[in-house]
Amino acid sequence: MKFTYFGHSCFLVESGGHRLLFDPFISPNPLAKGVDMSAIKADAILLSHGHVDHVADAVAVAGQTGAEVVCNWETGEWLGRQGVTHVAAMNHGGARRFGFGRVKMTSAIHSSTLPDGSPGGNPGGFVVELEEGAFYYSGDTALTMDMKLIPEEFLIHFAVLPIGDNFTMGAADAARAAGFVRTSTVIGVHYNTFPPITINTGEAMETFAKAGVTLLLPVIGETVEV
Ligand code: NI
Ligand code: MN
Repeated sequence: MKFTYFGHSCFLVESGGHRLLFDPFISPNPLAKGVDMSAIKADAILLSHGHVDHVADAVAVAGQTGAEVVCNWETGEWLGRQGVTHVAAMNHGGARRFGFGRVKMTSAIHSSTLPDGSPGGNPGGFVVELEEGAFYYSGDTALTMDMKLIPEEFLIHFAVLPIGDNFTMGAADAARAAGFVRTSTVIGVHYNTFPPITINTGEAMETFAKAGVTLLLPVIGETVEV
């Protein structure tokens, strides 16, 4: 699988000819100004929750790509009010088959208000099963015991976890989350975008190394093989 980082919690996973984009927040992110958003192609866009740092470019990218947007019910309604109707609305615990694979929506401990102030429902994450394997994107969340349910059902090839602390897990809890979902590879996101989530990445690498988990921190625009 190919993972391309677009900054903050926005990334693209490519596998078997399918392209999945997560939590598009590119145009408002000064760190991502080198990313040409208009060149992004996606078959599906997955939104973990309604916060602006996860949905800012959802309408634009859905429009330009024609991709189906996978999100919770409330976020789907918000998209609909802006003319985005190619939406697959889900909720926690539900799974659904798509052309690219199967998605199960997982729970997250966080909050979720949409950019217009309307309620965003409950925040979530995703386990995505593709032909090449399954991966977990937790979305913005605290460490939660619910993560221990995931490896009972899935073999998690890699996990995409927030490591920025303050609003979500920090590196130490993210390393514990890797243990909860029984994966040995984590891609860290949701760090160093804003002052409250600025971290020492060297310390984060050490924390993961001590836990025996590989932490990948691709630079913005970089593609890594996972
Ligand atoms: Ni959030
Ligand atoms: Mn966030």
